[in-house]
Amino acid sequence: MSNLHILGICGSLRAKSHNRTLLNYAAAKLPDGVTLSIADLSDVPFFNSDIVTKPAAVEQLLAEFAKADALWFACPEYNYSIAPALKNALDWASREPNNHLLAGKAAAMMGAGGGMGTSRAQYHLRQVGVYLDLHFVNKPEVFVNAFAPTSFDADGLLVDTRIQQSIEAQCLALVQLAMQLKK
Ligand SMILES: Cc1cc2nc3c(=O)[nH]c(=O)nc-3n(C[C@H](O)[C@H](O)[C@H](O)COP(=O)(O)O)c2cc1C
Repeated sequence: MSNLHILGICGSLRAKSHNRTLLNYAAAKLPDGVTLSIADLSDVPFFNSDIVTKPAAVEQLLAEFAKADALWFACPEYNYSIAPALKNALDWASREPNNHLLAGKAAAMMGAGGGMGTSRAQYHLRQVGVYLDLHFVNKPEVFVNAFAPTSFDADGLLVDTRIQQSIEAQCLALVQLAMQLKK
């Protein structure tokens, strides 16, 4: 497999975020030749076109989007929709000339939340991706119940083998799509 870099975007800023745990699990199971870094959104301000000089956290985020061949979203569900930190990261990236940081890139999503596994937020994210010209992997979908005792152990580690397999399968699908789009 040739070199491919994935940028992970987690919509939760919480230190013990279950959604970030999904990305951390993925990072430990990457195929050869694939790397994944997780963006730090904690200091990224809300997008505001009055901000002329971009803060360092925004410059860093945009540089990470530029470096990425593919995007992998860990998408919490806040009040039936996308968490603001995740949407804000996309809003910043989308205002660069010609949407060049996003347009045409392969992307995937997964999420941990209540009983619906963030499915409502994930489908909103797919809708946003239409405008941004992202190409989302369709299957497998990864919907995790963060509150089921079988999903995460007391230390917050992902222990459900079925979910682990889904994440690994989604990774392969993302890598395959990214390779096709890079050609
Ligand atoms: C503002 C807010 C709104 C929420 N709304 C939903 C919701 O609509 N659906 C849901 O499944 N969980 C909802 N939750 C619960 C989150 O899914 C839960 O806190 C989850 O653990 C967040 O992900 P994290 O562990 O990565 O921080 C909400 C949590 C917050 C803080």
